[in-house]
Formats: sequence, C-alpha cells, structure tokens
Amino acid sequence: MIVKFTLNGSTVFIDANPGERLVHILRRRYGLTGTREGCLSGRCGSCTVLLNGSPVPSCVIPVFQVHDAEVTTIEGFMQEEDYRDIEEGFRSAGVTTCGFCDTGKILTAHGILNEHPRPTKEEIKELFAGNLCRCTNVEELVAGVKAAAAIRRKRRNG
Ligand code: FES
Ligand code: FES
Repeated sequence: MIVKFTLNGSTVFIDANPGERLVHILRRRYGLTGTREGCLSGRCGSCTVLLNGSPVPSCVIPVFQVHDAEVTTIEGFMQEEDYRDIEEGFRSAGVTTCGFCDTGKILTAHGILNEHPRPTKEEIKELFAGNLCRCTNVEELVAGVKAAAAIRRKRRNG
C-alpha cells in the first residue's frame, strides 16, 4: 500500500504493509530516532508523535491510519516556537528528562497546552498518565507545564 502523509512539514509517500507500526516506519525508514521504542503497547509514551497536532503513541498506530494526515516528530517539533515554551518552562521548574521519556513529556505537554491554555494540576496529572517515568517529581512536572503555559500565553498574547 502506498501511504501519503505529511511528515515534519513535507509530503512523503511510502510503500508499506498497512499494518506496519508508525514508530517503525519513522525510525527505520526515515531515521527519526527521537521517536523511541519502549513498551510497544501504548503504555509508556516514549514513542509519542503529534498526529494532526495531538499527541499519540506511534507504536499502536498502523501506518495506514496516517494516510493524508499530518505527523510531527520531536525532530520537527523542535524547529517550532512552541517547543521553546516547553523547554524553558521545564528548565525553570527543574523537570527531569532522559533519553527514554523526553519526547513523550515534551509532546504531551504541548498537547495539554493546546487543549488547556491554563491547565490545572489535575488536568496535567491526568493527561500525563500515559507517560511512564518514575524518576520525575510530579510536583515539578506540574510546575514545568504551568510555567510553559504562562510563557506561551505571554508570547502569544503579549
Ligand atoms: S513504545 Fe509506544 S507507548 Fe511505549
Ligand atoms: S524515565 Fe526519563 S527521567 Fe524518568
């Protein structure tokens, strides 16, 4: 099956088995290794990408589902101004990240800010439920997302 989609702003066509996992397509065919392979069952968040702007675990997305859709990986997102808000917010709150969880935390935070410009602690905790990380202090994570939200509001609204 030929699948056509937008990948980090460019239109791409790929000949793939329709059931092939998106995470494998991104890593093996496009070398986008910032999309990590963890549990491969939708539970850890390390393979998160933005699908039409919303964070999803790419390990449970068969590639046929992205036909005509827009996929943004962490590599593409890092080129956007929205990324800087989160980077700065996380840094100011001392949020811990590592090579396993950074992609999921950053893209999940972005999804939260899209839906909730002033996210509450409960919303942040609930929406981070799919990101497996036992080493981050939840209070720091909440503070980091709130700081990023404030930075984004200021940047967008002046
Ligand atoms: S590898 Fe996809 S959620 Fe864990
Ligand atoms: S898994 Fe990365 S900081 Fe916890």
